Amino acid sequence: MHIFDEIESEVQSYARSFPCVFNRAKGELMWDEDGNEYLDFLAGAGTLNYGHNNPVFKKALLQYIEDDGITHGLDMHTIAKRGFLEAFNDHILKPRNMDYMVQFTGPTGTNAVEAAMKIARNVTGQQNIVTFTNGFHGVSLGALAATGNSHHRDAAGVSLSGTHRMPFDGYLGDNIDTTEYLDKVLSDSSSGINSPAAVIVETVQGEGGINAASFDWLRNLQTVCRKHKILLIIDDIQAGCGRTGDYFSFEEAGIEPDIITLSKSLGGYGLPFAVVLMKPELDQWKPGEHNGTFRGNNMAFVTAKAALETYWKDQKFSEEIKRKGRYISSRFESIVNQYGEGNFTVKGRGMFQGINCINGDIAESISRKAFEKGLIIETSGADGQVVKILCSLTISDENLAKGIDIVEAAIREVCASVETMPEETQYFEVA
Ligand SMILES: Cc1ncc(COP(=O)(O)O)c(C=O)c1O
Repeated sequence: MHIFDEIESEVQSYARSFPCVFNRAKGELMWDEDGNEYLDFLAGAGTLNYGHNNPVFKKALLQYIEDDGITHGLDMHTIAKRGFLEAFNDHILKPRNMDYMVQFTGPTGTNAVEAAMKIARNVTGQQNIVTFTNGFHGVSLGALAATGNSHHRDAAGVSLSGTHRMPFDGYLGDNIDTTEYLDKVLSDSSSGINSPAAVIVETVQGEGGINAASFDWLRNLQTVCRKHKILLIIDDIQAGCGRTGDYFSFEEAGIEPDIITLSKSLGGYGLPFAVVLMKPELDQWKPGEHNGTFRGNNMAFVTAKAALETYWKDQKFSEEIKRKGRYISSRFESIVNQYGEGNFTVKGRGMFQGINCINGDIAESISRKAFEKGLIIETSGADGQVVKILCSLTISDENLAKGIDIVEAAIREVCASVETMPEETQYFEVA
């Protein structure tokens, strides 16, 4: 590990949880330089929904490179870009009757969020964006202002402004619809909440602890947005591209966001790529206003097109994800019923699920124990208290079962070694 210790910055994070040097990867498997095999339940934090080195995408990419296709073209028109736009229109937008313009931003999620927030502010002339507790939208300053986590926020070095934090679904307990609170403060000129440009929300908060908003809450949120003429931005960077079962995580809720951000698995092969989708009337950009040298990654266009044509030309892949999601739910339910003394809970939906272990130390021990057994699985949430499953959507049934068996064994061993199991804090308990 010498060179990493010697000159790689302290900012490393995943490398600390999984201390080995990786060498090869295929599908849901990774190998380190000593030949040890690992099952990957992290999948590039949701970037490898179609597995590592997907053979279909690899073939398309190798052919493109072999043909001296354009690797970098700023935002100029290329055959690769045309191919992506046509495939995205044919397989994603048109079948869903979605009328959106596509903006290629810098290739990270946080840059797409920056662009989405700028559009909302510039079009409405309002500055504030409503964001939610436990939301994660990236770490550049604009997006960081929308992110809740203090560990990331504290690194900003300047005050983070232009946002108002509201309670996410479930934050105040199961029976409180927090959109009613949002409606109230937006209706009250003395609430101290300025009229916002937009709301930005994840349908399932990935980094914030796999908190899934109910479909009713999402519909109510849209109603409040429409009532107060504020834009609804869905940040689908982690929950989108099939993770919850449909291409977009909000489809089942039947809502129609004004702006959508996508990145992570959009490119399919793990290549950096991000877009903003916006309703045509919101596309009021002046040329080059939101600029960037790496806007539109041509290699990612090629693999993204292959992903859309391979997996999204019909309903089969979506049905498979939902079937695997049901399997994960049933296994996780049985695990929480057996261990954690009834205190652990299952969170999330589709193939975006986790087990809330209440306490970050326990979740971390489970992740560490799983790694010793050959499984790469991370934690999320304010205290890292949720063990989160984020395996590739293309994983075989055998490896999905094998990975969950390892999670179960790790939980069993960790729980057996813990003297008292933590309980979730109840904030509104009547004394
Ligand atoms: C919902 C969401 N938005 C934005 C981001 C930021 O993306 P990136 O890390 O590519 O900047 C993330 C990253 O995890 C995310 O989960």
